[in-house]
Amino acid sequence: MSDKSKFQDRLLSLGLARVSEAAALASANLIGRGDEKAADQAAVNAMRDQLNLLDIKGVVVIGEGERDEAPMLYIGEEVGTGQGPEVDIALDPLEGTTLTAKDMPNALTVIAMAPRGTLLHAPDVYMEKLAIGPGHKPGLVTLTMTPSERVSALAAAKGCSTEDITVCVLERPRHEAMIDELRSTGAAIRLITDGDVAGVMHCAEPELTGIDMYMGSGGAPEGVLAAAALKCMGGQFFGKLLFRNEDERARARKAGITNFDRVYTRDDLVRADVIFAATGVTTGSLLAGIRREPGWVTLETILMRSKTGSVRRMTYRSPSR
Ligand code: FBP
Repeated sequence: MSDKSKFQDRLLSLGLARVSEAAALASANLIGRGDEKAADQAAVNAMRDQLNLLDIKGVVVIGEGERDEAPMLYIGEEVGTGQGPEVDIALDPLEGTTLTAKDMPNALTVIAMAPRGTLLHAPDVYMEKLAIGPGHKPGLVTLTMTPSERVSALAAAKGCSTEDITVCVLERPRHEAMIDELRSTGAAIRLITDGDVAGVMHCAEPELTGIDMYMGSGGAPEGVLAAAALKCMGGQFFGKLLFRNEDERARARKAGITNFDRVYTRDDLVRADVIFAATGVTTGSLLAGIRREPGWVTLETILMRSKTGSVRRMTYRSPSR
């Protein structure tokens, strides 16, 4: 294999940060304007334009949807200049469209890249998710445990009380029983209204974010992105696809999935070294949001490589147009 066709994660990573920044910049004027679609579209257009400048033979495996429902960055779309390594791309040009439209915390632009054939082609269905940070024995918590068993196991491993554990959960009616059970353990719950990629990422740095564990169901595509982030930052992730009807099972079959009961670990979802970039759109506990001053726009991006475990936080200031 020639050098040009190898997955040069180190060289490609800065290009990936640019892609993530471009999507955030494009959505800057749409923060707090109540128009989710316009914000998403602006981020999609900019991400796609910037991605097409990279010297890769890329295929979108996690994108904006099936080809018939998303004209751009659809699953299977080929991106890049066509010169360079064959890679899989997972992206969410605006993770938290509602958060952006309402100017609420933790909206991000997100993209991950890995060698071709190594990211799970997750169908657009729900996924049951569970995540904890680094430094724990494999399988300390599992999807087969009850929520309270997970809290007890993590508290015991941390040598603290269950009341010292904070669990992050998406606030949804479907999570009410789980929330009640978690409350019965004394654990604190950080409820988020959207954005579970950021929710999972919080677990990797519990001392900074105050979050020890993430659980509950959310989008399966976001699960792959979250697994990519944790592969770089450290931490355990488990996901199981949830199907509500035959149409959703058909989507999974189309994506090549045959075992509908499989529990995926972080490394099943992301099977090789990955690079991951996310840029803050609205300020959150992971990243600063877009700052607009007269004549300038400032962005913060996190750029990570699983091969080295390197985590870069970069500030980008650009003249505003
Ligand atoms: P969008 O950015 O596409 O709006 O997704 C936001 C999100 O909150 C994800 O982070 C999460 O996985 C999913 O939606 C949860 O889905 P639902 O709103 O149906 O519970």
